[in-house]
Amino acid sequence: MIDIRTVGVIGAGQMGAGIAQVAAQAGYDVILSDIDLPRAEKGLAGIAKLLNRAVEKEKITQADADAALARITPAGDIAPLAKAQLVIEAATEREEIKRNIFSKVGPLLTDDAILATNTSSIPITRLAQVAPDAGRFVGVHFFNPVPVMGLVELIRGLATTPETVSAMEAFAQTLDKQVVHAFDSPGFIVNRILLPMINEAIFALGEGVGSVVDIDTGIKLGLNHPMGPLTLADFVGLDTVLEITKILQDTTGDPKYRPAPLLVKYVEAGWYGRKTGRGFYDYSGPEPVATR
Ligand code: CAA
Repeated sequence: MIDIRTVGVIGAGQMGAGIAQVAAQAGYDVILSDIDLPRAEKGLAGIAKLLNRAVEKEKITQADADAALARITPAGDIAPLAKAQLVIEAATEREEIKRNIFSKVGPLLTDDAILATNTSSIPITRLAQVAPDAGRFVGVHFFNPVPVMGLVELIRGLATTPETVSAMEAFAQTLDKQVVHAFDSPGFIVNRILLPMINEAIFALGEGVGSVVDIDTGIKLGLNHPMGPLTLADFVGLDTVLEITKILQDTTGDPKYRPAPLLVKYVEAGWYGRKTGRGFYDYSGPEPVATR
C-alpha cells in the first residue's frame, strides 16, 4: 500500500482548509494550493486562527498547534503537488472546474499517487475520465466543519481499485474519522438524504408554511438536529446547495429533486448564506437575524 507522507490539497476555501488542517494535525506534510498565493495564504490564516482557538480552549498544546501549522505550505500554483502521494481536490463544486484541475494535475503525479475529490455529488466515474488512472481515483467526502465532523464518505467509482479504497480508509482513520462506503450514485449517501430535506424546507418557506425561525426551530427541537435546515443551508452555502440539487435532478432525471424556486432566487441575488453575509439570515450584526 502506498505510504502517504505528503498530502496535496487543491482549494483553500472552507473545505480545503479544513482538510489541510486535520491532515497537518495528524502529522502529514501538506501543500495547500489555490489559484493564487493570497488565496492559499488566506486559507492558512484561517487554520492558524482555529488552531489558536483550540490552544486557548486547552484542546491542544501551543507546540502541537505550531507544529501543525509549520507542516502546511501554501502554494499559488499546482507545481508543488508533484511531490504528494495523495492529492485531494476541494475546489468549487462545478464539474468543468474540477475536470480542468484533474487534467492539469494528473500528469504531474507519480505513478502510484492517489487522486481524490471531495465532490459532494458529481459522479466519481465521470470525473475519473480526466484522471491519469481511474483505478487510483476516488471520492473522499468530508463534512463541514471538517475539524469537528467525525465522518468521511468514501466513494468508489466503477474502476476504483480495492487497494485505493484501502489506502484511503487507512488515511481517514489516521485523521480520526469514521468511514462509510458509498457506491458512485447521485448524492452518495449523506447528500442524497440531506439535500431533499434542505430543499423541502425552502419550498415550505416559499409557500409560507412557516417563518425561517419556525422552520429551523421545528426541525432543531422536533428532530434534535444541531442546526435547522435553513441555518444549515446558509452554512453550506446556497450556491453549493443549488449545485448539488441540480446534479441530483440532472443525474436521476427525477422531478422530485427540482430546486425550490426561492433557492434559485436567493442564488440569483447573490445571497449565498454565511460566506456573503446574507442568506436566510443576515449575518451583518453580532447575531444572525432571520430575513423572512
Ligand atoms: N471549524 C472548527 N471548529 C468549529 C467550527 C469551525 N468552523 N465551528 C464550530 N467549531 C467547534 C467549536 O470550536 C466547538 O469546539 P469545542 O467543543 O472543542 O469547544 C464545537 O465545534 C462546538 O461549537 P459551538 O459550541 O460554537 O457551536 P455548536 O454546539 O452549535 O456546534 C456545529 C457547531 C458543530 C457546527 C454544530 O452546529 C453542527 O454540528 N451543525 C451541523 C453541521 C453539519 O450538519 N455539517 C454537515 C454539513 S453538510 C456537508 O458538509 C456536506 C456537503 O457536501 C454539503
